[in-house]
Amino acid sequence: MKNETNIQKQPLLIHLPKIEDERGNLTFIEENNHIPFDIKRVYWIYDVPGGEQRGGHAFRMQHEFVVALSGSFDVVINDGNIEKRYHLNRSYFGLYIPNGLWRHIDNFSTNAVVMVLSSTSYNETDYIRDFNEYLIFLAHEQ
Ligand code: TYD
Repeated sequence: MKNETNIQKQPLLIHLPKIEDERGNLTFIEENNHIPFDIKRVYWIYDVPGGEQRGGHAFRMQHEFVVALSGSFDVVINDGNIEKRYHLNRSYFGLYIPNGLWRHIDNFSTNAVVMVLSSTSYNETDYIRDFNEYLIFLAHEQ
């Protein structure tokens, strides 16, 4: 599992199909086509008060794809060495986050809606919620 999970550890911005139409635009996502995993769960975050942040954890196994369905926000990824900030502000692209990366979401606009497609069902034991524990997890992955 160690080597397998180490193959793709970079977040990736993925542009989705956009069907432009004078009646309104349409975008879609197919599992294992536009995103590289089976979709087991969809959840969304909304009504976020100004100045709040969400996340602040890593997943041992779960892969995610994050889309700003409405409004905008920043997804901040930390791999234990480098922190990168991705501004998501359109519903026709999103950020693929492989397992094993620390992330939080901040800088929410008014009416921001975060849609998350997940490769797993909800499982609290998959979360690493303490950054020091995350660094130990990374050390064991090497
Ligand atoms: P959590 O993932 O910790 O939120 P965030 O990382 O955005 O701060 O989830 C918050 C709460 O919601 C936590 O008690 C677990 C629960 N939850 C579920 O029951 N099912 C889910 O699919 C998710 C994502 C969270």
